[in-house]
Amino acid sequence: MASTMDHEPNVQFEGRKADHIRLSLSDKNQAVGESGLEQIQLIHEALPDLDFKDIRLDARVLGRNLSTPFFISSMTAGHSESQSLNLTLARASEARGWCMGVGSQRKELGDAEAAREWREIRKVVPKAILYGNIGLAQLIRSKTSDIEKLVDSLKASAMFVHLNALQECLQPEGTPNFKGGLKAIERLCKQLSVPVIVKETGCGFSKATLKRLRGTGVKALDVSGLGGTHWGRIEGARAGDERHAAAATLANWGISTVDSVLGAIGIKHDYEVWASGGVRSGLDAAKLLAMGANAIGFAKPILAAALKGEDELLRQMATFEFELKTVLFCTGCKTPAELHSKKVWKWRAK
Ligand SMILES: Cc1cc2nc3c(=O)[nH]c(=O)nc-3n(C[C@H](O)[C@H](O)[C@H](O)COP(=O)(O)O)c2cc1C
Repeated sequence: MASTMDHEPNVQFEGRKADHIRLSLSDKNQAVGESGLEQIQLIHEALPDLDFKDIRLDARVLGRNLSTPFFISSMTAGHSESQSLNLTLARASEARGWCMGVGSQRKELGDAEAAREWREIRKVVPKAILYGNIGLAQLIRSKTSDIEKLVDSLKASAMFVHLNALQECLQPEGTPNFKGGLKAIERLCKQLSVPVIVKETGCGFSKATLKRLRGTGVKALDVSGLGGTHWGRIEGARAGDERHAAAATLANWGISTVDSVLGAIGIKHDYEVWASGGVRSGLDAAKLLAMGANAIGFAKPILAAALKGEDELLRQMATFEFELKTVLFCTGCKTPAELHSKKVWKWRAK
C-alpha cells in the first residue's frame, strides 16, 4: 500500500515497498490467534454419499463461473522487485484459475511509465483475471478518468479500493485523510467501467460500516479482517517515533475475519461477501465459505511461497485446493456453495 504523498521521491517509495515485503513475512507482524477461525468447527460426515473425483471447487464470483473460489490478495506494484514477483503470481494465478489482485497502482497516477509493468505481464498472461487496486486516500483526490486508466493499463476485470485507516495513521509517510471517502466510492461505482470491490487490509469491518456500504454500488466487499498480516505492526516496525509506541498499543487493533464475515452475512447486503485476513489453509477457507463468503483471499502465504519460486507457489496453491476438496468430502459437500447451504459449521465447544 502507498502513502498519499504526490511525487514521492523514488528512493523513499522503493525503500517502503521493500520494507513491506520483508516485514510482512515476519511472524511478529501477524496477528496470530485473532482471526476467530480457531473457534469454528466444521462437522465431520462419516458417511458422505460422494465420490471424491466428483468434488468441484466451482464458484460464482462477480457474475462469472470460476473453477475455484480462491484469489491472490492485492500485494505489490510499481517498484524494482514488483514486476518479477507479479509475473510469478500472475502466471500461477492463470495456471490454477485463481483471480489475482495487484498491489496499489498509486504510482501510475503520477507516472504513466509505471504501467509498463502490466504491459509486460499481460504479454505472458493474457487470460489471467486481474483486479486493479487503489487506496481510498488516492481515490478521494482522483478523477474517475484517472482510475479508468489504471483499469485499462492492467486490463483489469474489477477494481479494488483499499481501506487502511490504521496504516495511514502509523505509516511515517502516511496521510490519514478519508474525508469524503464514502461519496468517492459511490462516484467510482457509478462511473467506472468495471465492478468496484471494497476491501480492508487486515482490520476488518464493523456491521455499521458494512451497512453504510450498502446501496453505494459496490459489487463485492472483501472483509480482510484481523488475524493475519497486521499493518499497524508493520508500520510500527518502520517508525521510530511516537508511532512506534502507538503501534505496540494497537498491535491487535481490528475486527476479526470471522466477526467481519458474520457481520456482513447477518445483515441485508447487496454485495458479494469475500473473506481474507489470516486465511492460512484450505480448512480456514472452508470455514469462511461455510459462513457464507463466496470468495477467499490469501496474501502472506502466497507471498512467502512466491519468493521461493513459481514451483513452490504452484505447490502451495494446489495444497490449499486439495485441503478444501478434502474438507468438502468429509462434510458431505460436493461444492463450496454447499458448505453454506448445508450449514456444516458450529462454534467449537469451550
Ligand atoms: C507485502 C504486502 C503488501 C500489501 N499491499 C497491499 C496493497 O497494495 N493494497 C491492498 O489492498 N492490500 C495490500 N496488502 C494487504 C493484503 O491484500 C491483505 O488484505 C492482508 O495482507 C491480509 O491478508 P493475509 O493475512 O493473508 O496477509 C498487502 C499485503 C502484503 C503482505
